[in-house]
Amino acid sequence: MPTLASASCIDDLREIARRNLPRVVFDFVDGGAGDEFVLRENRASLRDVALVPHALRDVSKVDTSVDLFGKRYALPFGVAPTGMSGLVWPEAERLVAETAREMGLPFILSTVASCPMEEIGAICGDLGWFQLYASRNRATDLDLIARAKASGFGALVITIDLAFAGIRRRDIRNGLALPLRPNARMCMDVLRHPGWLLRYWSGGGIRLPNLEPYYGGGVSMMAQLDAQTDPAFDWGSLGEIRRLWDGPLVVKGVLGAQDAKRAKELGVDGIIVSNHGGRQLDCCAASVDALPEIVDAVGDALTVMMDGGIRSGEDVSRALAVGARAVFAGRPGLYGAAAGGKGGIGCAFKLLATELATTMALLGCRDLTELASVEVRRNRNLPVLARM
Ligand SMILES: Cc1cc2nc3c(=O)[nH]c(=O)nc-3n(C[C@H](O)[C@H](O)[C@H](O)COP(=O)(O)O)c2cc1C
Repeated sequence: MPTLASASCIDDLREIARRNLPRVVFDFVDGGAGDEFVLRENRASLRDVALVPHALRDVSKVDTSVDLFGKRYALPFGVAPTGMSGLVWPEAERLVAETAREMGLPFILSTVASCPMEEIGAICGDLGWFQLYASRNRATDLDLIARAKASGFGALVITIDLAFAGIRRRDIRNGLALPLRPNARMCMDVLRHPGWLLRYWSGGGIRLPNLEPYYGGGVSMMAQLDAQTDPAFDWGSLGEIRRLWDGPLVVKGVLGAQDAKRAKELGVDGIIVSNHGGRQLDCCAASVDALPEIVDAVGDALTVMMDGGIRSGEDVSRALAVGARAVFAGRPGLYGAAAGGKGGIGCAFKLLATELATTMALLGCRDLTELASVEVRRNRNLPVLARM
């Protein structure tokens, strides 16, 4: 059984998270939509990418830094937005933001975070990005955008793959509700995780502080989440947001060249190729499979990034060699938080950083330009090794 001190990879942290969290919380983090086909495929497709190394190059110095929207980041991976991370560890977003700041990573704060955006903006400054779920009330969006600006976030990320929440069977089976409403089975499970229970209680449970100004005390958390999802949001609405936000605008959740071109026409600055970590549509492409045609279509004009299935520095290298300028990881930071709060979060991102530097050196790549031009082969179809 791995411990935080002995964790050698993200999958070790996942095992610790599985042990530390009640099942309802672990499954909320770990699960996906439908049969969880694309959840597995995100990882399997990355593993199918083989890179051809260049030997006998001087790799005594490896530079992993990347420029995104005019800012220099120490590493080409960042933290994807994950809502309600306080379920995993109290104030998880604050701890992740502090770690990201210390390590020079971009951190994307979710609209439905359990920490206030003003507090996180003060930690990250313009290295932090704010992710917006468009609400059914445009005035709420306008206010959230103004608050993001006032809080100092350096980019606005609009997630476009959540017209409706995906159907996540683990959550249905576990009876997930927010705030948690334990049934008999859940009570037993929670009692078997006293450390988590104590932290959850003493941290005051789960809140959505960014939305509190817009919903009265009588509106349930589930209703707030629902109202923060607008199925009528369309390209015209995205154009309105483009006119309102004068900083870098990123669209998260693009999986096809046509939508990527549409985003480009609207003046968007970047794209995150993403299927929401397999949590929304289960019959779509794995992110790394969707990446090449999007890079071909808009890569010269837009910053094309990717998330989904990144679990190692090798995965970061694979995605960058296939064409992403940077990648984001969602679950790794949450597994780390569950494994040990800030220490676990730091462990997760340090593992990725060390593995990336080692992989680049072994590939003979001294910087990300060299990594981007490494030869890619796709010929193995290896099974995913994760213990599901
Ligand atoms: C627990 C959890 C909550 C998430 N919440 C959000 C969110 O609030 N906004 C968003 O745009 N994406 C959200 N995502 C998706 C992530 O931003 C990202 O696309 C995904 O986690 C990437 O896949 P990975 O977990 O395999 O790295 C969430 C993902 C998880 C696992």
